[in-house]
Amino acid sequence: MLNEIKINLQNINQFVAKNDLENLKPAALDALRKLHDKTGKGNDFLGWVNLSSSISEVELMDIENTVSELSSLSEIVIVIGIGGSYLGAKAVIDALSNSFDPLLHNRKNPLVVFAGHQLSEDYLFELLEMLNGRPVSCIIISKSGTTTEPAIAFRIVKNYLENVYGKTESKRRIVAITDQSKGALKQMATKEGYKTFVIPDDVGGRFSVLTPVGLLPIAVAGFDIRQLVKGAVDMGEALMSDVPYEENICLQYAVARNALYRKGKKVEVMVNYNPKLHFLTEWWKQLYGESEGKEGKGIFPAGVDFTTDLHSMGQYIQDGERMLFETVISVKNTLHKLAVPHDDENLDQLNFMAGKRINEVNKMAEQGTMLAHIDGGVPNIRIEIPEISEYYLGALIYFFEKACGVSGYILDVNPFDQPGVEAYKKNMFALLAKPGYEKQSADLKKRL
Ligand code: PA5
Repeated sequence: MLNEIKINLQNINQFVAKNDLENLKPAALDALRKLHDKTGKGNDFLGWVNLSSSISEVELMDIENTVSELSSLSEIVIVIGIGGSYLGAKAVIDALSNSFDPLLHNRKNPLVVFAGHQLSEDYLFELLEMLNGRPVSCIIISKSGTTTEPAIAFRIVKNYLENVYGKTESKRRIVAITDQSKGALKQMATKEGYKTFVIPDDVGGRFSVLTPVGLLPIAVAGFDIRQLVKGAVDMGEALMSDVPYEENICLQYAVARNALYRKGKKVEVMVNYNPKLHFLTEWWKQLYGESEGKEGKGIFPAGVDFTTDLHSMGQYIQDGERMLFETVISVKNTLHKLAVPHDDENLDQLNFMAGKRINEVNKMAEQGTMLAHIDGGVPNIRIEIPEISEYYLGALIYFFEKACGVSGYILDVNPFDQPGVEAYKKNMFALLAKPGYEKQSADLKKRL
């Protein structure tokens, strides 16, 4: 099944020479070896490399039992987290959900809504307003336990739960996913007696979707986490360090994007032709942006949803500054079938399409766009998957993680830290007059 995931690199050939790719192969092979030997930069954060194959039956059952408990108590489950503690679950749930999920009348599972991923006062107010007595539970996810956005959202939701259900009952409705031993959330969970799941020490936030961070919310939303994990395990086997370059698609992707980067293609635009994949792109943007954007280096990861954005960003991609390349996630099959109807009047002159599947029209848009963009000077990488399912999403997630590690090492950065994320937090705390930040506070206020 896995060999149905393919990478098509033929449309970078007119932008990079064969030698440019050949020259990067040794670095890619070396990077892959370092990920397995744990001899590269950031080697204390490589727990994700073999994570999926080490998830035990006991762990999966613990998640599934917690899902049963939360589902029996709730119509809505609020998942609180930001960055790596948010995007993976959001990406998979959105990809697998009915496009009109919140409006369905026959839902079997609780509706998962997210909070703590920004600081909008209106969002939190409207969240509480929407709850309006509906049965609700909460999953709070924070590895550090001190991140401002989820901590504020959790205070609000915890207060709401305690007011509605009382302190004792609300404890049954809160699950914490955090560090095994340290951090404010761990401390609170122990004190309050919340059900907890652990984020392993050696797995960073953006690599944590295949831990309870992603698995619990995805399972609450009603999706098959065993298939998700199986997809990742199978992909893990396909990308082992003894799998030759010619068959190892994570090496090929990492080499291709680095070769393009060295030719001045500094922006990688992830493209989908299905809005359900919008948040997969957001997850990928964090994975690559936070892993590679450092030391004045790194491809800028961007994203578009086609054909929607062909009517907004299409002009720039076709004709603007030539520093872009595209990586298209091309999905072969749809879940449903629908054809363009015939119309006797034919005022829109679309009868030549009558009877054709919408997916065929979408595919022709995809192919036509690819050719036009190549002609416009935009190299094209295509990653093909047969369908959007738990299995293929699990495989794709692991593929992108592994390729990210390899790519970061080729770039010669530590792909597993994120020192730059601290800068805004320090300024925010100083401006909010956090004790200890008095000097920075005065300096910053002079600049505003
Ligand atoms: O990738 C990362 O490490 C970050 O995006 C974190 O996931 C994000 O900042 C949230 O951190 P935490 O889980 O500690 O609240």
